[in-house]
Amino acid sequence: MGLGTTFPAVNKTRAKSDIFSADSELVTHITHWTDDLFSFKLTRRDNFRFRSGEFAMIGLPDEQGKPLLRAYSVASPYWAEELEFYSIKVKDGPLTSRLQHIVAGDRVIVKPKTVGTLVLDALLPGKVLWLIATGTGIAPFASLIRDPDTYERYETVVLTHTCRDTAQLEYGKHLVSQTLCDPLIGDEAVEKLVYYPTTTRELSPTMGRITSLMDSGKLFADLSLDTFNSDNDRVMICGSLQLNIDVSNRCKAAGLTEGSNNSPGHFVVEKAFTEK
Ligand code: A2P
Repeated sequence: MGLGTTFPAVNKTRAKSDIFSADSELVTHITHWTDDLFSFKLTRRDNFRFRSGEFAMIGLPDEQGKPLLRAYSVASPYWAEELEFYSIKVKDGPLTSRLQHIVAGDRVIVKPKTVGTLVLDALLPGKVLWLIATGTGIAPFASLIRDPDTYERYETVVLTHTCRDTAQLEYGKHLVSQTLCDPLIGDEAVEKLVYYPTTTRELSPTMGRITSLMDSGKLFADLSLDTFNSDNDRVMICGSLQLNIDVSNRCKAAGLTEGSNNSPGHFVVEKAFTEK
């Protein structure tokens, strides 16, 4: 019995340090955008590679020292020195209830494998790239709108972001204004990037669900762009499950086919990762 009580305690300590030494990064910056939303930056080890738009498993050790991991889209572009993530704070969420309290110098586990369908290679060549986001679904697009390849492949890049209120749009607004004056991609972004923020529950210049704005034609009229067609338009969708279904259905109705890494198409879709 004596040994039995001693060994787990020793193992626990060892497990914790192993987790942190293997796949972890140091927290460098944290920004709390609202009571429910925050972004953070981590150091990036030299051999950490990803394609813009992909996600990684990241997290913290739990009480037992086991890794508690969730899928997070990398919000920084592939060329950035640091790794950026954008997160909701879920009340009583096993990971985010603790992750929201990280401070500079803390360690966060970042597993090396990255995957995802919101990548440029999963789309056939086209003229207009639509990035349709709700809530934290903007994260993979934060990476893609800072990737020079995005502007090489498309004449116009439209980022729509719909949130309940204007405070929830702040991260995106800041992201876009930083992108427009970025030394690497600012000039191309000024020429090609169109930002279309909308709110559904608070007054703002453009109101409504993105699906309603598509259906009414207001989205296309506001931007002086044609409705979706398979010759020109490529669409990436990232939001709640229902948002993804509803926008996917509109893409299919317009004759667009869904793509994947193995079989590029006209649109791709991924659920925004939120802890339950
Ligand atoms: P709404 O306020 O009308 O529900 P959430 O905060 O629930 O993640 O939602 C983020 C944004 O996405 C909200 O503005 C919400 O609008 C909108 N939204 C949620 N589901 C859909 C959907 N199926 N189609 C279009 N917009 C949606």
